[in-house]
Amino acid sequence: MFFGISYHENVNNWATRTLIEAMRARGHKVIPFRLPDVAAQIPNRFIHLDNEDVSDMDGVIVRTIGYGTGDQITFRISLLEHFEDAGIYVMNPAYSFRRAKDKYATLTALHKAGIRVPRTFIGENLEAAVAFVQEVGDVIIKPMIGARGMGAMRPEHPELAYRAMKFLHQLGQVLYVQEVVKKPDRDIRVFVIGDRVVGAMYRYLPPNVAGEWRTNVHGGGRAELAHIDGEYEECAIEVARTLKLDYTGVDIIESGDGPCVIEANASPSWSALSRVTGLDIAGMIVDYLVERCKR
Ligand SMILES: Nc1ncnc2c1ncn2[C@@H]1O[C@H](COP(=O)(O)OP(=O)(O)O)[C@@H](O)[C@H]1O
Ligand SMILES: [Mg+2]
Repeated sequence: MFFGISYHENVNNWATRTLIEAMRARGHKVIPFRLPDVAAQIPNRFIHLDNEDVSDMDGVIVRTIGYGTGDQITFRISLLEHFEDAGIYVMNPAYSFRRAKDKYATLTALHKAGIRVPRTFIGENLEAAVAFVQEVGDVIIKPMIGARGMGAMRPEHPELAYRAMKFLHQLGQVLYVQEVVKKPDRDIRVFVIGDRVVGAMYRYLPPNVAGEWRTNVHGGGRAELAHIDGEYEECAIEVARTLKLDYTGVDIIESGDGPCVIEANASPSWSALSRVTGLDIAGMIVDYLVERCKR
């Protein structure tokens, strides 16, 4: 088969490279591209930068759509949807990818499906955000679209929350403010492909980082193989099904009331997970893509 894979700054990104290798090892042709380097035509044709016609791709794995202006991001999302209209299988599907990148849209969909999520404020109005903080107390302020724990903060006092939110508001950022869920010093990352959990790991707070509350491996969190119970497995599968994600890394908190989902990653990495499980996760993702393309 003939596949595309979208990267942005760095084609040598570990996950991107591993997927390309898994495709080649299975005898597939693959072209890595940045979405800005693909031009679309109507009637349907897709031309890559160096004038290669890539209209006959069977599928595309979206690792990232990159950064850009409102116009550029809209174009790249429309391009993915255009691939789909033209019969090219997009993984994760364009709408699912877009929704999972947006923590607001993600929580809305999960809540509707009856999945427990933290109490959250989302808006552009500073006064309303301040009122939410007064009501909830201990909060986390996160970028609505973000990853790796970057840019999130946990102000120790409502006055600090106010200063931070005022600053973000002045920068034109949407305010995404969430209650701190009481939990142990770890979270769970569950990796789902299709409707199957392929592996799970605990992520413990980084040792020796005073005051750290994020467990992201990127920030020094320690990964450990987890044998999770059925309730957590079912929760992760339900998240993937609800968000229509073909593969995803679901972040779950062990709250006093059971699993509480904070996000589902639409282009998760799996280096820590393959280390603790010993599984060939890239190969499993590619095999699933092949299966989807044949349907
Ligand atoms: N509501 C919350 N309560 C407690 N801890 C949280 C909460 N939200 C996030 N965290 C911690 O911060 C980390 C990063 O948050 P997350 O929403 O997954 O954003 P990112 O996309 O940056 O990974 C989580 O893995 C978890 O350890
Ligand atoms: Mg996360």
